[in-house]
Amino acid sequence: MTSTPVIARTRDELDAVLKDARSPDAPLAFVPTMGAMHAGHEALLREGRQQGETLVASIFVNPTQFGPGEDLSRYPRTFDADLAMCAREGADVVFAPEPDQVYRDGDPLVTVDPGPLGGELEGRFRPTHFRGVLTVVAKLFGLVRPDVAVFGQKDYQQLVLVRRMVRELALGTRIVGVETVREFDGLALSSRNAYLSPDRRRDALGLSHALRAGVSAAADGRVAVLKAAGAALMSYPGLTIDYLELRSPDLASAPEAGEARLLIAGRVGAARLIDNLPLTLGDGSEE
Ligand code: PAF
Repeated sequence: MTSTPVIARTRDELDAVLKDARSPDAPLAFVPTMGAMHAGHEALLREGRQQGETLVASIFVNPTQFGPGEDLSRYPRTFDADLAMCAREGADVVFAPEPDQVYRDGDPLVTVDPGPLGGELEGRFRPTHFRGVLTVVAKLFGLVRPDVAVFGQKDYQQLVLVRRMVRELALGTRIVGVETVREFDGLALSSRNAYLSPDRRRDALGLSHALRAGVSAAADGRVAVLKAAGAALMSYPGLTIDYLELRSPDLASAPEAGEARLLIAGRVGAARLIDNLPLTLGDGSEE
């Protein structure tokens, strides 16, 4: 059943609507987004609906997580379609503030330091990104006060860092990660896919193909995984790889054997895309 969510544009409106929408002994679930929603967001909202009696989504393109020269001004904004998706997926409230509602005093003087992991992988290429992400997530948690919040595994490093922030700062929100949604040919859904021409889209497929090639070599150990993924990338000269790394599930060094994560980032034209997959490494005895 579709019913239009209540839209809150300001902190006061959010407080007022949450007073009515929150039930005292049932969980409130929160799905933070930057809008430009696609089937990946649909999966997050659906999970949020399962997790909470009340479902709140936010739509806010957070300026502090974009570095100089990144795509803040051209980031796709599709509010009406986003709202329709939130309605279809049963959101009760959509918080859609302007930056001055979130950053009332301008650029924040107090921010959340993501720690050393914030400077690795994505952080090597976007040095201020995770500080911006964690700061806005902490602020949104403070405003919405969710019992549970839902994030996609597509932004895997973000998910790991949000979990760590919640644990280390004792924020008390349970974090749920949702599997990446892919197109029929394996391309991970991303709002940034909107930047891809058909040719560039073909190049972008190299990311998921490399990951899949790596995963299929997992039984043979770490070296074999990276070799197989690297070989797959040879067929995609239009794709410039920023990193291809094998790590543990919490993004420390990859183990010799057992659960691990293969992560990749690359650029096709002006679009920067990321992807990752879980895998189980063999003991490498075949290396
Ligand atoms: O994943 C996103 O869309 C954003 O990084 C988030 C978590 C909404 C913070 O702006």
